[in-house]
Amino acid sequence: MQNLNTFILAIESSCDDTSCAVLHNNEVLSNVTANQKIHEQYGGVVPELASRDHQKNILPVVDAAVKKANISLSQINAIAVTRGPGLMGSLLVGLNFAKSLSLSLNIPLIEVDHMQAHIMAHFIKDKDQAIPTFPFICLTVSGGHTQLVKVSDYLKFELMGQTLDDAVGEAFDKAAKIMGLPYPGGPLIDKYAQQGNPNRFKFADAKIPEYNFSFSGIKTSFLYFIQKEQNVNPNFVQENMNDICASYQYHLIDVLIKKTKLLLKDTGIKNLTIAGGVSANSELRKQIKVLEKEININTFIPQFDYCTDNAAMIGITAYYKFQNKQFSSLNITPFTS
Ligand code: KG4
Ligand code: ZN
Repeated sequence: MQNLNTFILAIESSCDDTSCAVLHNNEVLSNVTANQKIHEQYGGVVPELASRDHQKNILPVVDAAVKKANISLSQINAIAVTRGPGLMGSLLVGLNFAKSLSLSLNIPLIEVDHMQAHIMAHFIKDKDQAIPTFPFICLTVSGGHTQLVKVSDYLKFELMGQTLDDAVGEAFDKAAKIMGLPYPGGPLIDKYAQQGNPNRFKFADAKIPEYNFSFSGIKTSFLYFIQKEQNVNPNFVQENMNDICASYQYHLIDVLIKKTKLLLKDTGIKNLTIAGGVSANSELRKQIKVLEKEININTFIPQFDYCTDNAAMIGITAYYKFQNKQFSSLNITPFTS
């Protein structure tokens, strides 16, 4: 039975973004995110600094989200929060804040799995966006995960394949670091790649069975490639940035597309979605559309705002859990992987 008047306040703090959203049913009233710039200089997220910044940001972010939604706290029916996977110190800040709110407002707490939430972001109401039909395959690609998931209903997920080592987002970020670019490097590689030639440099494929992935070898071969070229020309990266980014990006996306295509073929499933931070990548978005025509499937690409970490995706997942009264105890602790 659907409750058609549900207000949910959602909190996400699993990595380096502190985010709070307020949803009315499946509609986002506000989604406020504080990004942490401090990690740029380190080439990756420093967990201790991330949790300290969450602690500073969480109250102003929640306050801003409630104000923007133009509701009072007494109207909220449940508090949703990311329980994991993520960084322990970061998760603890969001989870403890959410528990306190749930306790003080005397409303249920709903724990949400971050990776499932990335997929559920497709169900956020948007007039310009078609909602995927079941069953569908979701290629979930983020800074910490690379997964192929079969989704047969709301909240019904089956993991079909995943990375055996690094995530594809890490392959982007670490390559960027090797080239001296700040963290997160994915969006920057995407930007430079737009002006570059994707066929200029070639990278070797890792031979991994079925629907699994491996990105650690690609990252190492990228390091050796850059070192070798820099021995000949110390300005190699600066002079060839666009072509390096385009070729490397093309290679990573090609690996993702090949595995996704294989899974679609083997399962006969005709609907495909992408989710997670790397689903913001323009080459991936382009190649998904090419695949749509090539093998005659339906593809669903998430709104740009809901690709990288955000609390709206936590809220929409909690909305479906709320319908089934899937509430959490105040004793829950975070899980990291
Ligand atoms: O989902 P997300 O925001 O956080 C995690 O749950 O990890 O994903 C972050 C990842 C980072 O590795 C970032 O470099 C990557 O998503 N990313 C991109 C792009 N935008 C974000 N990678 C490639 N191209 C992009 N446009
Ligand atoms: Zn994420």
